[in-house]
Amino acid sequence: MIIQQATFVKSSTTIEQCPKKVIPEFAFIGRSNVGKSSLINMLTNNRKLAKISGTPGKTQTINHFIINNAWYLVDLPGYGFAKVSKQNRSEFAKIIQDYVLKRKELVCLFVLIDSRHEPQAVDLEFLRLLGEHGIPFCIIFTKTDKLKPGALDRNIQHYSNTLIQEWEVLPTLFHSSSTTKTGREEILQYIENLL
Ligand code: GTP
Ligand code: MG
Repeated sequence: MIIQQATFVKSSTTIEQCPKKVIPEFAFIGRSNVGKSSLINMLTNNRKLAKISGTPGKTQTINHFIINNAWYLVDLPGYGFAKVSKQNRSEFAKIIQDYVLKRKELVCLFVLIDSRHEPQAVDLEFLRLLGEHGIPFCIIFTKTDKLKPGALDRNIQHYSNTLIQEWEVLPTLFHSSSTTKTGREEILQYIENLL
């Protein structure tokens, strides 16, 4: 797919504030700092579209970007970030849950997982929530530039082995690097097929 246009539309703090336009929506979720905003910039070839930061907790709102005037990419706040206050954390959780469980326009949720790490309880729990509610999702293993190919393969295999213990069918898995643009074509092709 060719991205001809990618424009910021609005930031929302509740699902009621989200754009009223009914067009397909694809959202990015995952732990703070996993690389959601960077991936949106990589996919759209625009380093300044979504705000990124080395400090976890950068994205605190639901951010809609309109692509080719036909569909939305949505940047969400991260979950599982221990350093924000407890109240802040539960507010994030509410925004995320509201959006994920109630937003009818959501076609597919991309759950980002850092390819360097062991499976984490917070991610596995989040995936369980999606399963319980029948939310369509894929997994993207991020920051693959930080691993040697052998280690990447081992980590993805290990993750798949963990998932298969509780999922009958594995979700679609991608791997990405916002630095080398690995995964860009595959993810955009997947979105195009769903449009
Ligand atoms: P929050 O908004 O805080 O939840 O974080 P986020 O998931 O949006 O992460 P963000 O895109 O802001 O990136 C976090 C940090 O990781 C930044 O310092 C990025 O430069 C870095 N980063 C993101 N993706 C990659 C990647 O693919 N490779 C490398 N090497 N660094 C990355
Ligand atoms: Mg972000």
